[in-house]
Amino acid sequence: MYLNRYEEKIYNGEYGEILSKAIKIIVKIGESVGAKRLIKISHAHISGVGYNNIGEAGLSLLRDLASSGHRFSVFTTANPGSVDLDSHRYFPYSEDFLRKQLEILDHYKALGVETFTCAPYHIREPRYREHLSWAESNAVIIANSVYGARTNKESGLTALFSALIGRTYYGGLHLKRERYPRIEIFIKNINRDYVSIGLLGLYIGKISEDKIPVVKGLEKIEREKLKTFLAAFGTTSSQGMIYIPGVSREDYKESDYKRYIEDKIEIDSREIKIFYEEQENLCEDPEAFLIGCPHVSPDLILEIKSMLDKIGGEAKKPVWLIIPPDYEKDPFIKNLLDKLREKGIIVLKGICPVISPLNEIGYKCIGTISSKAFFYMPRLAKVKISLMDLPTIISKAF
Ligand code: F3S
Repeated sequence: MYLNRYEEKIYNGEYGEILSKAIKIIVKIGESVGAKRLIKISHAHISGVGYNNIGEAGLSLLRDLASSGHRFSVFTTANPGSVDLDSHRYFPYSEDFLRKQLEILDHYKALGVETFTCAPYHIREPRYREHLSWAESNAVIIANSVYGARTNKESGLTALFSALIGRTYYGGLHLKRERYPRIEIFIKNINRDYVSIGLLGLYIGKISEDKIPVVKGLEKIEREKLKTFLAAFGTTSSQGMIYIPGVSREDYKESDYKRYIEDKIEIDSREIKIFYEEQENLCEDPEAFLIGCPHVSPDLILEIKSMLDKIGGEAKKPVWLIIPPDYEKDPFIKNLLDKLREKGIIVLKGICPVISPLNEIGYKCIGTISSKAFFYMPRLAKVKISLMDLPTIISKAF
């Protein structure tokens, strides 16, 4: 692989062993996909922040990195961990767990992480064609499929190494020729509520396997539902993007990608119903409700606020609304959130309940609008799930 003089110096250890190892790993991965050179990135997004996820090995790596004096060389954000940033003890995890989780956050902050959220695009919108190194599947799919930015679906570690050296390999989805769809999917008669749209995303992710799909029939989808759909797709697909005509910012036309299409599939509501019925770990009587996987947008906060304006009373069960940590710097959003708090909604900042050991503190059944949480919570938080639309959550919780 071609390296410029600066990159060569990093490679040869002139800036220390850590950066040398970081660039060698990025080069090696790049060479395995045929990349001929590296490319500068403007934003890295790291996953692997929960203690439950990275354990002692990850914590010890972060300790070494933070004490080495090296810092991230580009704007860097990271996924959330398992604790609310304002009130660490909201979930009564053990003191040992809490201490280790907070230590992980401290090391990331020392290295230069700006904020902890799985919706980095709500904090800094990616620009068209800019190169990123993002882990976190929903963020990758949204960056590529909505903003037309370019990032592969990185692992937490490769995004971290790229954050250190400010570069990634110029291959995969960074190249136009790798962004053409290979499978054509036609959507017929699918409801546009959060549950149906999320299940559709999970289903398309599953059947497209490693191919980029072009999805037709979603042209007029609202922004918030689009986010739900893409996050769900990223959960079951190994791909980093979907092409949605009229939505995605790609500079190609149907005539450019037509010859690459290997398969055409039509999906209607019957397939989605069967797919849902095949799922395990369903439950019916949630003890708490989760909204914000991925972290909510200001639009969704507004939607919830207008629904609650029409009903009286306070929440009788916990409703967790998960936000990126910095939202309340905006007085308009803070005001909205305060109104929701008055209704009993529990606003949690910079946290991922999905990777957190909720079963260890007594939860068994969680209601959510998120198909991503629906997929992962039984596996990671070891709880059962009830997938429900927003009006159902409001009616059951209030
Ligand atoms: Fe975010 Fe955790 Fe869901 S990182 S996307 S809340 S699984």
